[in-house]
Amino acid sequence: MEFTLKYRGRTIIRAIAPFISIDKQILDIGCGNGVVSDQIQKHFRCDLVGTDIQSYLKKNIKFRHMSKKDALDFKDKEFYLGLFIDVLHHIPFEIQSKLIKDALRVCSEVIIIEVKPTLTAKAIDYLINQIHNPEMPILLTHRTKRNWIKLFKANNISFKSYKVKKPIFFYPVSNYLFHIKSK
Ligand SMILES: C[S@@+](CC[C@H](N)C(=O)[O-])C[C@H]1O[C@@H](n2cnc3c(N)ncnc32)[C@H](O)[C@@H]1O
Repeated sequence: MEFTLKYRGRTIIRAIAPFISIDKQILDIGCGNGVVSDQIQKHFRCDLVGTDIQSYLKKNIKFRHMSKKDALDFKDKEFYLGLFIDVLHHIPFEIQSKLIKDALRVCSEVIIIEVKPTLTAKAIDYLINQIHNPEMPILLTHRTKRNWIKLFKANNISFKSYKVKKPIFFYPVSNYLFHIKSK
């Protein structure tokens, strides 16, 4: 199954490329098994640390286990860029804004890649996560683009939204990319 993750990783690398450079220290929040983190690190030759509430790394990346669901164990502005790649829809709605705000405490800028909530996307999410990591909570706490923007506005977060190009035209899932900063 690793090849599917790597294929997905290439789409993610294309999407985040405008925001990354070699000198930017990256925190990959909810890095999971680290396959995509490792691809990002190697592709951009950047310094990356992964963090997650679970520990199931398959790759040898720098990692810190999270002791709390809604806070990061790092100092203020320890990183330039934080990444949430397909993470926030695994987190209860009431925790999403807390964790995003804490990411903006720890990182100067944050990129969120999230899935557009369709029935197909939710079914795929359920099946893929059952295969990759049956221990993972599958909460399906997706938001529409309008609801993510509502969350940013309510928390005084400035944002720009971008489209993530599909790897092939019939790819069944659409993704949003938000580039956010504290106001
Ligand atoms: C679908 S996986 C994505 C993994 C990786 N970002 C990727 O794109 O391959 C979602 C990850 O979010 C993590 N997660 C769930 N709740 C979390 C929380 N409160 N804080 C950080 N990570 C969390 C899960 O443990 C899981 O590894």
